[in-house]
This record gives sequence, structure tokens and C-alpha cells, in this order.
Amino acid sequence: MSSFASSIAKVFYGTLIHSVSVKEIEYISNGLLFVDVHGRIAKIVRDLPRDQFRDSLDGVHESKVVLLNDDQFVIPGFVDSHIHAPQYAYCGIGHDIPLLEWLDTLTFPHEAKFKDAAYARQVYSKAVARSLRNGTTSACWFATIHLDATKELVKVIEEQGQRAYVGKVNMNQNSPDFLKETTQSSVADTRSFIEYVNAINATLGLDTKPLVTPIITPRFAISCTPDLLTELGKLAVEFDLPIQTHLCENLNEIDVTLSLFPGSTTYTSVYADHGLLTHRSIMAHCVHMKDEEFQLMKDKRAGISHCASSNFNIKSGMANVRKMLEMDLKVGLGTDVAGGFSSSILDAFRTSRTCSIARSPDDSLLIPELFYLATMGGARVMELADTIGNFEVGKEFDAILVNTSVRHSPVDIFEHDTIRTKFEKYLFVGDDRNNEKVYVQGKEVRLPDL
Ligand code: GUN
Ligand code: FE
Repeated sequence: MSSFASSIAKVFYGTLIHSVSVKEIEYISNGLLFVDVHGRIAKIVRDLPRDQFRDSLDGVHESKVVLLNDDQFVIPGFVDSHIHAPQYAYCGIGHDIPLLEWLDTLTFPHEAKFKDAAYARQVYSKAVARSLRNGTTSACWFATIHLDATKELVKVIEEQGQRAYVGKVNMNQNSPDFLKETTQSSVADTRSFIEYVNAINATLGLDTKPLVTPIITPRFAISCTPDLLTELGKLAVEFDLPIQTHLCENLNEIDVTLSLFPGSTTYTSVYADHGLLTHRSIMAHCVHMKDEEFQLMKDKRAGISHCASSNFNIKSGMANVRKMLEMDLKVGLGTDVAGGFSSSILDAFRTSRTCSIARSPDDSLLIPELFYLATMGGARVMELADTIGNFEVGKEFDAILVNTSVRHSPVDIFEHDTIRTKFEKYLFVGDDRNNEKVYVQGKEVRLPDL
């Protein structure tokens, strides 16, 4: 066997669909995609007739080929750039209340339960399994303030095999006593958490890129004192880490923030002033942004997680994604469970479309743009555009094998359907039942029955 052939773990033959730019989806029909033993895409060959693809296997044994039928295609895995793992337990509840009241009455009392790591494991196992089932191969998770429970979330993600950023949440002011840290314990526990994840990653072989990365996670400016924000900014530099938080979600939240930080000119500059706005920052929502705030995001190369479903549910407003794209800001989609009621990026895709039409029908987001946001956009926001997001040689293979005609499929296929209409039906009508297989770093994820 040639060395190329022996380096290959899997080959897909059939239709591959991915974004090549924000405006363009490429449909690779009769494609051959080789995945190597490290989970990387080694080679892609286009337009090979069905009776000839064997000639292009370059010595790879046919038993390694996943042969797709006409109702199946492979797409890049979805990126959920903002989701709260503990909130999965009450997903679907409380959508009549605006943000600050929703946090006080529902979220904070619930998150306090994560003092109990065993309870955390129960909820986190389901939250991660559901996210993977929905085709999310990469996610940016908020946990809670609790160190042990956040470690539990890392263990669950490692067991289930998702690519993830995981954050221990920081809160040391304007929070109930039962969910509040001191500055000192908040910083110390964050450092312990980072060291915990780094120690796990250090045990991996050199050929395997870690799937889980710690992320600095101040809940939002309201719940952190200036000295805590400053210390977290320093930790991000010391360990070279990404950062995630909430920004300009709700008008009332903005007023409270500006009154707490009179030295900063805008909400966005509160984070910048404390070293928390970098090219690795992921800012959720950005619904009510001044022009200068978008410009500051651009200058710092910070990313945005657009959480349309949450923004409707808890009545925050409608973000101007068209403007973000025009400014070439990095933007991806977030489910924001449990502000959002669904951990499916397909739902986020649909709600983002509705949001953009409601805002401005004449320049609403088009399907290629929305699909880009769900995959490549998220990869850019995570600063992983060189690693995931679409099918390019050298990237890691994170993907969904979609089947539009499985048993109990919500999608109905007719004779006139083409691969393009099947793909579009999946985007608008499909759900996790159509996600026949999910792959992260080339490995098939075991999808549990839920
Ligand atoms: N702002 C601060 N905390 C939260 C949260 O848990 N969810 C949402 N949607 N916004 C927040
Ligand atoms: Fe959120």
C-alpha cells in the first residue's frame, strides 16, 4: 500500500455541499473526499462518474469508502457560537419575560443548582448530546460559576466528542448571594479551570489537536466589577485564550451597564477598557449597537454571535446582521439556549432569516449567507477558519452526513427533487432525524437516542 493510501482513514463518495464564500455555496457532485488518520481532509476530487471513482482511490481500500446515495449529502458541521449548558434544563420556559427579570427569576435560581456536580453531569450529558444530535460539531459553551460543575462539562464533552470552547462563568456583583463569587475566588477558580483543561490537553499526543479549549467568560459587564474584568483580561493574555460574553442585548441592560461604568463611553468600550475585546472575543447579541461600537469591534477584530431566537423570545430586538456583513465583521449563529428555545442551528438559521426579513425585506439575508453564518461564519468567530468551516484540503473534517429520506423524516422527497432542492428542504424542513451521521475531527460521533 502506498504511504498516501495508508494515511487515509475514510473516503466519502457522493455530493458534498459547503460555503466557498459568504455569497456562494459550492455543490460538489460525484466528489471524492479523503480524510486522513488525524482527521484532516487530505484530498478532494470533483466530478467523478459513479462507475469511475474507484480508479481515483489511489490505492485506498474500497472498504474505507462511505458511498452516498442520491438522497444523501455531506455538509460541514454546524457551529453554535453561543450556548448556555445549564440552561438546557429549562429550555422552552419563561419566554414572556425580558432579560434582566428573566435572569433574576428563572436563570440565577436555576444556575445555583450547579453547585451540585452530579446534577450538572445529568443536565450537561443531555445538553451536549442534543447539541451533537442537531449537528453542532463546534460549540461555545457557558457553564456556571461553579468550578467542579464546569469540569464536569469538560468531561462530558470529551466523552461525547464535540469540539468546544468551555467557560467557567464569572460573577462577583449585582448577583444574588447564592450565585456570587468574590473577586479572588472568581480569578482563582478560573485559573484552576484553565489549568485543568490544559493538563488534560497536555496528555494528548502531538498529532491530535485538542478539541476542548477553555474560554474566559465574564457573564456580562453588569455582573463583574472593574477589577475582576481587568484580572480576566490578564488571564486571557497569560494563557492566550478566547473570551466570550454578552453585549448590547437589551436596552435596559445597556442603561444599567453605562451607569455602572461611567468612565467608559459605550458598552462595547467597557470590555475594550478592561482588555476583553480582542480578535479572540465572541460577543453575543450586539442588537443595539452604535456605529462607533461596530467600528470598535472591527478595529479589534472581535466576533459576534447572532442569537436571533433568543432576541425574539426574551424580546431583546433584532440585530442588524446585514450591516455586520457589510462591515466584514466576523459573525456566526448562536442558539443561546435557554434564551433561545432550540439548540439546533437549523432553527437559528431559520429564525435569523425571519429576523432579517422583519428588519428589512429588501436586503434580507440570502440562503448562501445564512448557511455561511451557520458554518464558516461560526468558524471565523471562533478564530478556527483555518481548521474548520468548510471542505478544504488541510482542514479538519467536521461534518454531517445528511439523509433526506430516513424513516420518520420531516422532509418529503419527490421525483422532481434535485440535490439542490433536497439540500434546501433539509435547511427549511429538516431536523436532527436527517442527521444520519456526525463527524468531529474525522471521527464518527456516537449519537445517543434521546
Ligand atoms: N446576559 C447575561 N446573562 C445572560 C444569559 O444567561 N442569557 C442571555 N441571553 N443574556 C444574558
Ligand atoms: Fe447568552
